[in-house]
Amino acid sequence: QNAPVLTIDGPSGSGKGTVSTLLARELGWHFLDSGALYRLTALCALSHGVSLDQESDVAVLAEHLDIRFDVERGSVFLEGDDVTRELRTEKTGAAASRVAAYPAVRHALLARQRAFRTAPGLVADGRDMGTVVFPDATLKIFLTASSEERARRRYEQLRDSGVGTSYDEVLSEVIARDERDSSRAASPLIPANDARLLDSTHLSVDEVIDAIRVDLQKLK
Ligand code: C5P
Repeated sequence: QNAPVLTIDGPSGSGKGTVSTLLARELGWHFLDSGALYRLTALCALSHGVSLDQESDVAVLAEHLDIRFDVERGSVFLEGDDVTRELRTEKTGAAASRVAAYPAVRHALLARQRAFRTAPGLVADGRDMGTVVFPDATLKIFLTASSEERARRRYEQLRDSGVGTSYDEVLSEVIARDERDSSRAASPLIPANDARLLDSTHLSVDEVIDAIRVDLQKLK
């Protein structure tokens, strides 16, 4: 419970996934990709034919998720099936943001997220890591970037992985998802009062990591 936690919250495409993974590796700390839990919940509902409109049914699935992370390989398993690729699609992301709006689903995932906090420490990536899940975190970062820049990064990622889409399509998805995540009543995407705001629009991954490293040093 008392292991140090570094929370990195922000919208999709802000670079928090890359930054948190690299920092966790550098620090030798555990890593929580909380978005993956919402994505897995959505996938689980879709594969069991449970409607995303049914808050309580989806919450039951979230409570009992049978998942496994293969950290070495970067693979994710849901009920024994490798869902690594499916997990990252736009369709899954959009479904995740729908189930993430349900308080019962968020509640069902709370204990599971907190259980990642073990020695020597945890880097937690998400939307409400600093506000709700780990309010007593050692250091809280809120990472942003302009929606155009975030759409550009996402578009390039998709294009490189062979997914056919246009920049405009990605931009409108980015804006729609931000709107849903920021306007929901349950744990909306907002910086914690004591979070350090970092805008990565004009920063490289290395520059973002350097800035966070400096903040971590100050705490020592
Ligand atoms: O970060 P990622 O894109 O994987 O998250 C997918 C969705 O899960 C987000 O759009 C957001 O709605 C939801 N989410 C959340 N709280 C978190 C992490 C993700 O609501 N801590």
